Amino acid sequence: MNSTGVLEVICGPMFAGKTGLLIDMVEQAAARGNVCQVFKHVLDNRFDGSNVVTHAGRSYTAQSIDSPLALCSSLRPDVHDIFIDEIQFFDYTMHTLCFDLVKSGKHVFVAGLDLDYRADTFGCMPLFLSSADVVHKIAGVCEVCGGKARFTQRITNGKSACLYEKTIIVGLSDRYQTRCWNCFEVSKTCCER
Ligand code: TMP
Ligand code: MG
Ligand code: ZN
Repeated sequence: MNSTGVLEVICGPMFAGKTGLLIDMVEQAAARGNVCQVFKHVLDNRFDGSNVVTHAGRSYTAQSIDSPLALCSSLRPDVHDIFIDEIQFFDYTMHTLCFDLVKSGKHVFVAGLDLDYRADTFGCMPLFLSSADVVHKIAGVCEVCGGKARFTQRITNGKSACLYEKTIIVGLSDRYQTRCWNCFEVSKTCCER
């Protein structure tokens, strides 16, 4: 019997440790002697153009890609474990590719936001969550009350962002906070800019 593939997903709000856990998994797989490749979406240029970097400054060498095609053309034939950070920025075609990779026996690990700033599902993440063998759902700490936080609050012009802003705005703590059920809020009135 062929060895079977595995799909593992890490999700949660910003500043909760998703990228750190992904790096832990890469290091463990590499220590077992597995051939690993690490990718991230090219939009994530916050700390470094190519490496995956945590908010605490820990980093791991990665390749920036903008599409499943770019991932495919960079894959080594002997790769065993494939890691992809910022998976929410890709569309459903990335899930289609990963599905095939797992079927062919690869171990695929993806990390990203399950919810956008509206607490709506983000990009291809729902597909990954639905088909995952294992989901690591990480909570953060609410920046307002210190409670357990599952949401990411966007701040626009010093206020809660409104529903009608664009979904993707790359940013850090100047634009985003981790918030709990009670403290998370989205404005339903259009902000004036
Ligand atoms: P992080 O989870 O690795 O900290 O990064 C998440 C990235 O996603 C960060 O650049 C901000 C961005 N983002 C959006 O583009 N839209 C959103 O609604 C949210 C919550 C985050
Ligand atoms: Mg991250
Ligand atoms: Zn709170």
